[in-house]
Amino acid sequence: MFDGNRRLQVMGAFVFLFLGSAGVVYGAEGPAAPTGLRCEYLSNPMGVDVQKPRFSWVLHHTERAQMQTAYQILIAGSAEGLGRDAGDVWDSGKVESSDSTQVGYAGKGLSSGKKYYWKVRYWDTAGNASPYSAAAQFEMGLLSRDDWKGQWIEGNLLRKEFDLEGKIVRARAYVTALGYYELRINGEKVGRNVLDPAFTTYPKRVLYTTYDVTRRLRSGKNAFGAMLGGGWATLGRRFFDPEVGPYYKAPALLLQVNIEFEGGKTISVVSDGSWKATQGPIVSDSVYDGEVYDARREQPGWDQPGFDDSAWSAAQTAEGSTGVLSAQMMPPIRVVDSIVPRSISSPMPYVFVFDMGQNMSGWVQLRVQGPAGTRVTLRFAELVYPDGTINRENLGGAKSRDIYTLKGQGEETYEPRFTYHGFRYVEVTGFPGTPSLDSLRGRVVHTAVGAAGSFVASKQILNDIQRLIHWSQLTNLFSIPTDCDQRNERQGWMGDAQATAEEAMMNFDMAAFYTNFIRDIRDAQFPDGSLPDTVPRKYGGVPGDLGWQTAYPLLCWYMWQQYGDRRILEENYDALKKYVAFLRSHAQDNVYRLHWEGDWVELAHTPGDYIGDVWYYYDVSLFSKMAQVLGKSDEAASYGQLAGQIKDALNRAFFDAHTDNYANRTQTANAMALSLDLVPKEHREAVVRSLTDDIVYGHNTHLTTGFIGVKFLMPLLTSLGRSDLAYDLAVQTTYPSWGYMVERGATTLWELWQDKSGPGMNSHDHIMFGSVGAWFYNALGGINLDPESVGYQHIRIAPQIVEDLHWASASVDTIRGTVSSSWSHSPGSIAIDVTVPVSSDAQVVVPAEAQMTDVVIWEGGRVVWEDGRYVSGDPGVKAATQQGRIFTFQVGSGNYSFRLAGGE
Ligand code: BGC
Repeated sequence: MFDGNRRLQVMGAFVFLFLGSAGVVYGAEGPAAPTGLRCEYLSNPMGVDVQKPRFSWVLHHTERAQMQTAYQILIAGSAEGLGRDAGDVWDSGKVESSDSTQVGYAGKGLSSGKKYYWKVRYWDTAGNASPYSAAAQFEMGLLSRDDWKGQWIEGNLLRKEFDLEGKIVRARAYVTALGYYELRINGEKVGRNVLDPAFTTYPKRVLYTTYDVTRRLRSGKNAFGAMLGGGWATLGRRFFDPEVGPYYKAPALLLQVNIEFEGGKTISVVSDGSWKATQGPIVSDSVYDGEVYDARREQPGWDQPGFDDSAWSAAQTAEGSTGVLSAQMMPPIRVVDSIVPRSISSPMPYVFVFDMGQNMSGWVQLRVQGPAGTRVTLRFAELVYPDGTINRENLGGAKSRDIYTLKGQGEETYEPRFTYHGFRYVEVTGFPGTPSLDSLRGRVVHTAVGAAGSFVASKQILNDIQRLIHWSQLTNLFSIPTDCDQRNERQGWMGDAQATAEEAMMNFDMAAFYTNFIRDIRDAQFPDGSLPDTVPRKYGGVPGDLGWQTAYPLLCWYMWQQYGDRRILEENYDALKKYVAFLRSHAQDNVYRLHWEGDWVELAHTPGDYIGDVWYYYDVSLFSKMAQVLGKSDEAASYGQLAGQIKDALNRAFFDAHTDNYANRTQTANAMALSLDLVPKEHREAVVRSLTDDIVYGHNTHLTTGFIGVKFLMPLLTSLGRSDLAYDLAVQTTYPSWGYMVERGATTLWELWQDKSGPGMNSHDHIMFGSVGAWFYNALGGINLDPESVGYQHIRIAPQIVEDLHWASASVDTIRGTVSSSWSHSPGSIAIDVTVPVSSDAQVVVPAEAQMTDVVIWEGGRVVWEDGRYVSGDPGVKAATQQGRIFTFQVGSGNYSFRLAGGE
């Protein structure tokens, strides 16, 4: 969570850098052991079902300007073997390469269910070898459908008792469900995942999780227990078409536990008709409506051996999903935090309203004591009315409530298992007595992605917006990127996903998450190549609006840019080609006019057919670039040519050369055309003027865009040299603006620019306006990929030093290591501190003030620019150039502190 403490830490580090970095001493110890070892973007994953997994590591060196010139990976079948430096599974040997990411396995076939141990070392620029890294692990999942022996079984509460003979040396549980499961062994929950498995197009693919259960099992009697919830599997598949019904009528479990004994014997315990089933305490559960739980129906000991289950019936086997069983290779959904309520009020007798102080996703834990049969109802809301009662008008059809019936045995603790809510307020009714702040704890739940970035600046409103983005992004990660977390949607709306993916990738460790979602998209592709608006498909038009469908090429492209993931381009190339063919078949005379949403939640309407056509151009040009990356030059050229034809047709159809405007002159219309370089050269300046005049004079420095347009607009203004204007929009606090949301007390981003609280579409937790977060990092923080590079190998640090801002600090843990940029500006002097990972390099752009003369620049106390020229000799600083008031330094890896000063 981004909280006050974290911000203080960031600022503390920032001050330290400023004061202390000039004195940094670089020793001569050479290359240090690599850290951050990842396999398929995950650290020590269990259940990898990629036959040739990819590895990455982060390099360290005590000197600047260091590169990896070679690496060696050792993979062993045992920890001891690896300790002896034996690469009995794969010894890559010394490979001359600077690749420390996306390194593909090239050893012999990896076996189903087997665990492997690996480590890596590298050689630096001078040819010195680092020590080996600490050992990491990865374990293969079940690689073939034939490895699965169990059957799908249905039920609400399931159990199986069995005997084991001998000393157990290893046991793995492979578990999935249509819906959600909670697996228990001998009375205890297995693992910390909740709302598992991920929401997928179940008939095509179901994801299983692997757990190490060695220590849960014992020689003698054992028992498995499973609780099942319907999740997305038993909710209607189509929102607008209830006839289609749910994926499945009842939740179902598929489980296989492989147990290995001393001496080599192995057995599997699987889900099948020998399990017993009954109705448990969960009376009903629904993602949207919440859970009804009757504690009087609990059966103590049901998940332990020796329980009398004679009254239970045989579990029903079911066909279940016949789709692919894939390993769930992304961070799971977890309870990541607990929140103490900020206050309780009682707006009416016997009605208590708890304020969590933060709009959050998840549920609450209830602590209560009272007579058996007492029913406590928890109702969730994002808003309250002026009289303090909860306002649930914006929840659509979601009942969003949990009901707990007490068993009446001392203090009882309850939290639901198979639902989640988006809320800040909780109304408690039916509570025996008067609740206290200790009666509830907020449980923050979402996909547990790690933090990757931080951004903080001297202007508080920016930090507030960043905090809202942080929360809105996380609370909209539920195995898929969702639109909202409170009403009856919570879907993988693709437009929202593409608009915010870059922001998400800088704030969080998203590589595995989007790898999974991209496969979900491919699974949802229609036979004609088109895609739905939501993935898995539930809401929206068919085909989706192009701003939504475009998530497919765009997310693939962002994976390539941010992580250098070439495999994702390879794996999706054919399906993307099909998608482009679909677009082409619907474009008349090279203009694609099909549309639904256009610029969603806009304030000035931009014609959807124009927006659709811009996306068509964008998608085709991206596809051409992908073909280029994959070395398919013929296709790259022919799609490049097609893009050119689309561009010409678009200008003929939508550009008004007399007024220098696109479509109907909105900010979105002109911003999209300028961003994608559609504007004929001789008109460019005039179109820029139309756009900036509309913002400044037409709307008093306010936006009129929806979430589609604004994603283009902010980076565009920076690329036009108008970061000042983008900044004014970013810190604006009157309607419409992000700051307006903050000033009106928002703790997550709204769906609409307007402050609405009535029925209809006005969620108070949507991430789609969060795209500005990427602009914070790129423009204000200054962290950018070099346009010719991917995966942060070549970096461009170019902070936009706008007048009103005194300092900003950004840091991103990229796939190659930490990249950071912190700057401060006071009249007459500019300081920029930069961190560049080993094996990367950067251009550091240091701007002087407009009127400055006699510019001198120091790095770490040494002069690197004086008398109008570069002064060489500073280690790591390789070259410098001046263009007007912009000074660009070429640096290798390491930490640098630039100071610029000049006279007037
Ligand atoms: C969702 C949006 C989505 C839109 C498109 C809404 O109901 O909440 O975020 O992109 O529909 O139609």
